[in-house]
Amino acid sequence: TQRTLVLLKPDAVRRGLVGEIIGRIEAKAGWSITALELRTLDRDTLADHYAEHEGRPFYAPLMDFMVSGPSVAMIVEGERVIEGVRALSGPTDPIAAAPGSIRGDFGTIVRENLIHASDSEASAEREMKIFFPGLS
Ligand code: GTP
Ligand code: MG
Repeated sequence: TQRTLVLLKPDAVRRGLVGEIIGRIEAKAGWSITALELRTLDRDTLADHYAEHEGRPFYAPLMDFMVSGPSVAMIVEGERVIEGVRALSGPTDPIAAAPGSIRGDFGTIVRENLIHASDSEASAEREMKIFFPGLS
């Protein structure tokens, strides 16, 4: 069984979509939330998380957006949950995301695309340590 790191970004919290998005995740058979925190993320934490994007044109506005208000960080555990939460989320660009996906149903802006989910087992291990350093 897998674990993945999920962030509900500041737009999701501001727009009151936390319950809706968590509901979709919780509704999947056998998946459960094993850690959850509402917190305004700091730039050091985000620089670590988004290190692969440093130097890209969207990096600075992405960082400004990500510190603009509280996010929900959580760990979700269950069968194929890494691939699964990304499938629920849809592609990065919400306009390209199919209706029925989280980004497809609620998003229009690439930067403000509501949710982050780890993209591999290695990313999940790395990202869980960044957001939940107390966990094993
Ligand atoms: P995350 O789940 O947040 O990591 O998104 P992703 O894996 O679908 O995308 P990626 O890791 O490539 O980019 C991280 C985040 O940067 C995205 O979720 C967007 O918020 C933002 N981003 C990525 N590419 C672009 C872009 O071309 N333009 C803008 N404005 N933002 C981007
Ligand atoms: Mg990514």
